[in-house]
Amino acid sequence: MFIKKIAILFSGNGSNLENILQKVHNRVFNGIKIECALLICNKKDAFGIERAKKFGLETMIIENNKFQNREEFDKKLVEVIKKANVDLVILAGFMRILTPIFTNRIKAINLHPSILPLFKGANAIKESFESGMMLGGVSVHYVSEELDGGKLIKQRAFERTRDMSLDEWEEQIHKIEHELLSEAIIEILCG
Ligand code: GRF
Repeated sequence: MFIKKIAILFSGNGSNLENILQKVHNRVFNGIKIECALLICNKKDAFGIERAKKFGLETMIIENNKFQNREEFDKKLVEVIKKANVDLVILAGFMRILTPIFTNRIKAINLHPSILPLFKGANAIKESFESGMMLGGVSVHYVSEELDGGKLIKQRAFERTRDMSLDEWEEQIHKIEHELLSEAIIEILCG
């Protein structure tokens, strides 16, 4: 059977990581099996590390604060990822800005909790909620040198309901994230 390998990078809670492991890892689509060959986390206490263990997967911890600068950290990421020989890298809640050292060498996709190009950056959920827009949403895009700025792959929106709270807004976003990211992975790798 034809196998395509992925690496997943995450930083914290790992709900998107778990979702991918549930829906995609070791599953076959169009005769192609997707295998998660590498997990990397930059925070040693991230809950996602425990989630991965449920699937029998160990996470490699590479702490960014042990490196002198972003470039040195990115060099290490590239070295480890290249060794694993994966077809696609998934940033699933990986809260690091990546330099061209990474973005020029690695084919990666990122999940972002807004309708890009609106609300780039780390506070997209709160900022999109507070904007008063009647639509919120989620984007999956290729990773480029520009933060949250690479070519879009998939987007899905939802409508604000009357008196929607920030918690409800966030809940909708996570629900859509859990559909959209695995769909994008399957489309890219198994078309
Ligand atoms: C998600 O909202 C993702 O869009 C953002 O970080 C969050 C990660 O959540 N980049 P989790 O760690 O996957 O639960």
